[in-house]
Amino acid sequence: MHSTIKSYFIFLGLFLINILNLKAQTSINIVPQVNLIRESPGSFTVKDNLTWYADSDSMADAMSLFFDQLKLSAGIRFVRAKEADKADVLIIQNASLVKSSYTLDITPDKIRIRAGYTDGVFYACQTLMQLFPPGIYGSSQNVRLPLDLPGVWIEDKPRFPYRGMHLDVCRHFFPKEFIKKYIDYIAMHKMNYFHWHLSDDQGWRIEIKKYPLLTKIGSVRKETLIGSYNDLPHKFDGTLYGGFYTQEDIKEIVAYAAKRFVTIIPEIEMPGHSLAALSAYPELSCNGGNYTPATLWGVFDDVFCPKESTFSFLEDVLNEVTGLFPGPYIHVGGDECPKERWKSCQHCQDLMKKEGLKSEEELQSYFIQRMEKFINSKGRKMIGWDEILEGGLAPNATVMSWRGTAGGIEAAKQNHDVVMTPGSHCYFDHYQSLSLNEPVAIGGYTSVMKVYNYEPVPEELNEEQAKHILGAQGNVWTEYILNPDHVEYMALPRMCAIAEVDWSAKGTKNEADFKKRLATHLLRLKAMKCHFASHIFDPEISTTANAAGNLVVNLTPSQPTDRILYSIDSPLSDNANNYTAPIEMNSSGKLSYQSHGTLEGNELSITFQKSLSFNKSITLKDQASDRYPGAKGAATLVDGLRGGKRFNGQNWLGFSGKNMEAIIDLGKTTEIKEVSVGSIENTGAWIKAPKSLTVWVSNTNDNFQKVYEAKAIIGEDNLVKAEIKPIEGRYVKLVLESGGIIEKGNPGEGKASWLFVDEILIR
Ligand code: ACM
Ligand code: ZN
Repeated sequence: MHSTIKSYFIFLGLFLINILNLKAQTSINIVPQVNLIRESPGSFTVKDNLTWYADSDSMADAMSLFFDQLKLSAGIRFVRAKEADKADVLIIQNASLVKSSYTLDITPDKIRIRAGYTDGVFYACQTLMQLFPPGIYGSSQNVRLPLDLPGVWIEDKPRFPYRGMHLDVCRHFFPKEFIKKYIDYIAMHKMNYFHWHLSDDQGWRIEIKKYPLLTKIGSVRKETLIGSYNDLPHKFDGTLYGGFYTQEDIKEIVAYAAKRFVTIIPEIEMPGHSLAALSAYPELSCNGGNYTPATLWGVFDDVFCPKESTFSFLEDVLNEVTGLFPGPYIHVGGDECPKERWKSCQHCQDLMKKEGLKSEEELQSYFIQRMEKFINSKGRKMIGWDEILEGGLAPNATVMSWRGTAGGIEAAKQNHDVVMTPGSHCYFDHYQSLSLNEPVAIGGYTSVMKVYNYEPVPEELNEEQAKHILGAQGNVWTEYILNPDHVEYMALPRMCAIAEVDWSAKGTKNEADFKKRLATHLLRLKAMKCHFASHIFDPEISTTANAAGNLVVNLTPSQPTDRILYSIDSPLSDNANNYTAPIEMNSSGKLSYQSHGTLEGNELSITFQKSLSFNKSITLKDQASDRYPGAKGAATLVDGLRGGKRFNGQNWLGFSGKNMEAIIDLGKTTEIKEVSVGSIENTGAWIKAPKSLTVWVSNTNDNFQKVYEAKAIIGEDNLVKAEIKPIEGRYVKLVLESGGIIEKGNPGEGKASWLFVDEILIR
């Protein structure tokens, strides 16, 4: 044991050295950032037939994947030495190093790895790999020998004991080989938990010997929704969709993960998200209906009924699950369980009376607590989504906080362990870019830098409570992720960012440094043939107007050394210019741009629509909702930029249950012939088309003369157009009337609809 005060000073000392050394080093790019790195004189020359010596066989085992990979990509053979002082690579047992920590010491004569535990040896190898050229991660001989590794002294340990990634294999199924690749990604980032979401409404994905119908019936759905849930009417692909992992597959994957120091947490959802299971065994529901695995996304009312037969079934299932997964945690889901069926089920109501349960929430708590007893009896810990707090938390449960951080804070205050995975920062199914070219995602906007800046320990917790925050996890739900390439695109590099949140020391964040390291790190992923997203290389764009009334576009490169190419009204491939100064656009047109650096960024574009209203003064009677304020507030409506199909971007203003009433001052008396307003309809997202458009004109900002009033029709280009008899005026007032209350039968029925507006064009 050591005193807290002493360790504080040691920590502070390391922290300062850390900062100094991070500044000094330029060519070493390790992700996640190590705690301390000091470059030392000289270098170690790597050649074939390196000799090694380990203090124990288990430490040697932790090196084996590293040896294999270096043989594969660089042809380096490793030979075991009989004596330590003859070896090039020494793996040294050092009992003073805590679990997962290591030191890595490279001098001209030796590479020394020190660790107290085998996972530390494995993590030292991950760091060592990153001192080689990125090609070392490849699957063919592409690294030339001899090569020099820089002399370094590295001391490293994780900030958090739980460093996790989740994958939903129910909404879409991914083959065993990809699961292994996903585990490779987890391990190379020094993460240690893989949360495997194995059952849900749309598919049951794990073979259970005692209940063969779970996979025979529950793993196959009739068809799958095409496109976004919000696009109505729903369209389906008419194709059977299925897949599951046999117990042999699972054993193979568990062993694969264990070799990489990754523990798998299997998730079997209960009592909700259980439609696939109920399709196979309808007698476990409240009404024994005729169910089929869901073909739509969302939350379904039919859930497990808390009968004795259900508990026996679930205990049998978990019995097989605990037999397959040796890790400490079993995840029972517990999220999004509607209580409709329980409210009208005689058994459920009788059970509540008998057990003195005052609400259906307490019945859910009863359900989860019974399962916890069983899980604990098998020597395991139960983990569940934060809904398991409702109606009373099971005594030993660990909570995954996903609906923001409140659940995690509450659980930690009740002295329960917590894994932080709030939707705002940790849901990698969200959009990662504001670009309008992104593949359909579930919504939101969580950039890699937003993930990087996430702090898992909420300020609300005191020091003791904060110890219950075990770490953070990135979640990959796959409603809109159809294949492994797309999983990679959504997960990486956001996984790199969450790995750094989990591993690297608190208080050392530095965005520019992370971006620089990530640029090299993505070359490693490239060598692994990973289909990662490259938004990190995209320039930042901002627009203003100049005195001449033209659009001025500023592009800021992501990395100081990046070059940006652009073109106007022609493809980048045809006619690209080097960006050296802000671009001025004096007429409508499409600007395409792309960065070129370590890797290429995405081909991006904006379309400027110039009109009389561009950059003129605009006032809104009622401001847009805080949820959709637009990047520039009201001025967003006259910035010359359209919003496109994605209404969560920067260019849309959203008004909830209100008209959009605006007055635009054109600055001087001007002839006006047409006023058009950009709007959109999306029934699934509660966005209704406007009812009418009315336009007035005035020279004095009062005594407005009505010049147009008609039913609003969203036409081509998502514009509601008012063609008017040419009239002179300086002020234009317009009202776009809200679609009003949402009709019966539509999502959000009876509620106020949203009115969305992205631009007002006056000609
Ligand atoms: C969840 O996203 N329903 C945990
Ligand atoms: Zn019931």
